[in-house]
Amino acid sequence: KCSVCPLNGKKPVGPEVQGNAIGHPRLVVLGESPGEREDESGRPFVGPSGKRLDKALAANGLARDAVHVTNAILCRPKEKMSPADWNQAIECCRPRLDAELGGPGRTVLACGNKAFQYLTGKAAITNWMGSPCPSLQGHTVLPSIHPAFVLRKPAYIPVFKEFVRRAVLLHKGLLPPWQWPVLVTKGPYAPHLAALRDAPALAIDIENFPDSGIIRCIGVGTDKLSVSVPLPPGGDANSEDILLLRELLANGATKVLHNSQFDLLELKAHGWLVAGPIYDTILAHAVVAPQLPHDLSFVAASEYPAPRWKTEFKVVGDDKRKGGVAAFNGPLDSLLPYNAKDVVMSAMLHKRLQARIDKTYRGQELLDDYHRLNLISMQMKEWGIFTEGDNLAEHRTNLDSLLHDFKRRFRELVPDEACDLGANGQNPSISRLFLETFALPVVSWNKETQSPSLDGKALTSYVGTYAVSKAIVADVARIVLAYRKFSKLKGSYVDTLPVDGLGFVHPTWRIFGARTGRWSATDPAMQTIPKEVRYK
Ligand code: URA
Repeated sequence: KCSVCPLNGKKPVGPEVQGNAIGHPRLVVLGESPGEREDESGRPFVGPSGKRLDKALAANGLARDAVHVTNAILCRPKEKMSPADWNQAIECCRPRLDAELGGPGRTVLACGNKAFQYLTGKAAITNWMGSPCPSLQGHTVLPSIHPAFVLRKPAYIPVFKEFVRRAVLLHKGLLPPWQWPVLVTKGPYAPHLAALRDAPALAIDIENFPDSGIIRCIGVGTDKLSVSVPLPPGGDANSEDILLLRELLANGATKVLHNSQFDLLELKAHGWLVAGPIYDTILAHAVVAPQLPHDLSFVAASEYPAPRWKTEFKVVGDDKRKGGVAAFNGPLDSLLPYNAKDVVMSAMLHKRLQARIDKTYRGQELLDDYHRLNLISMQMKEWGIFTEGDNLAEHRTNLDSLLHDFKRRFRELVPDEACDLGANGQNPSISRLFLETFALPVVSWNKETQSPSLDGKALTSYVGTYAVSKAIVADVARIVLAYRKFSKLKGSYVDTLPVDGLGFVHPTWRIFGARTGRWSATDPAMQTIPKEVRYK
């Protein structure tokens, strides 16, 4: 539908479908759109991304001309094309691509969001990558990171290669459908729990109510058998099931957890004894793949073509506050299988990552150190850091009067009541003031919405540019910058500092959180709290 496409008039870069034998369609590699090199040469995937793709195909025994290479849109997009124009371009190219792929039943390696959007209608390919899924057109898709992303972040090269490998196997019919091992999510649990008594290593995972922290269920198991037991009020505190579960957690087997600090502290707080050596798969992954994310969802996707059970459960990353709250408060019917899968994955990763550590020079030594530090940081979280309440109250008073003062000075310069600093100095009325009332040129753009952005860079540039020629503009920009800074300080570190009843905060310490190797903290991010504040 080129006539209604925002790219109408541009030169299309056609697909490469050499020798596509009828009855034996080739593996499809679907990219997003041609880049500069593709536009020049008239061939898809011939630039740096194409080279990266060719390498990954070759590593899996496939020559570039043995695959069908194409793109979601055939013309090179404009710089900073808006999301609306992207959607329109994809829809305009859809009839062409539908006809080109034919099918149903093709196997498609989907590289990047736009390819995935055409195939499934879903956004955010990262939440689905690595696991085969059906497309709207009846094809089988292996969602993957884009080779251009890998060029920017070479740590992901093995992940991209692995996804290409899965697509090749899928195309050859050699990737068997994923089979979870035995997941026990209904009582009686006792016979299954008893079967775990002799396991040398037991994976454990708990799920709790996000608000109260009360544990809803405990999962325990191996890579063959995973049992998820609901706790009271969903189950009976003195049942044989619960007694057996207590016995397993307290036995001498190695206990395998992904992000052990969280679960171990919760279990301790709720009176569960956990004994045996601790093995944390998040630490093992930090040893073998220090530059990659370590959350269970990502690690599992990069290692196994298992369905993205966390995404299906509506958890993004491992952070329960990001969209997962409803799911963790939701019915046990879906929580228990979710928990059982977490357990299985930790058990599988234990074996796989340890095998890699065994082959890594001094890998075991590093992992042992990480485990020792893990216990120390766990203790640090438990004890917490004392905050001086009087001091905090003084900061609150100072910040309040400072912000009040900024508001007053702002109003002197901008009498229009419709334009207001609000809670944090970031709202449309402030953007309009600079871009419409003052009619200043746009300095920054919001990457997602492609609209003008009044960020710190823009304000700082206005201060510099207009300090002499339009002093009022520079003054207002200075006030907005300062107001933003101090309201953030107050919002992040004074008003919402999670201080317990005794005056302690309990951040979680991560020993591999920063690339520089220093420790980092979350909830709150202690290392970003300013050491001192100068109120000017
Ligand atoms: N990136 C793509 O998505 N497609 C190409 O053809 C080249 C780069």
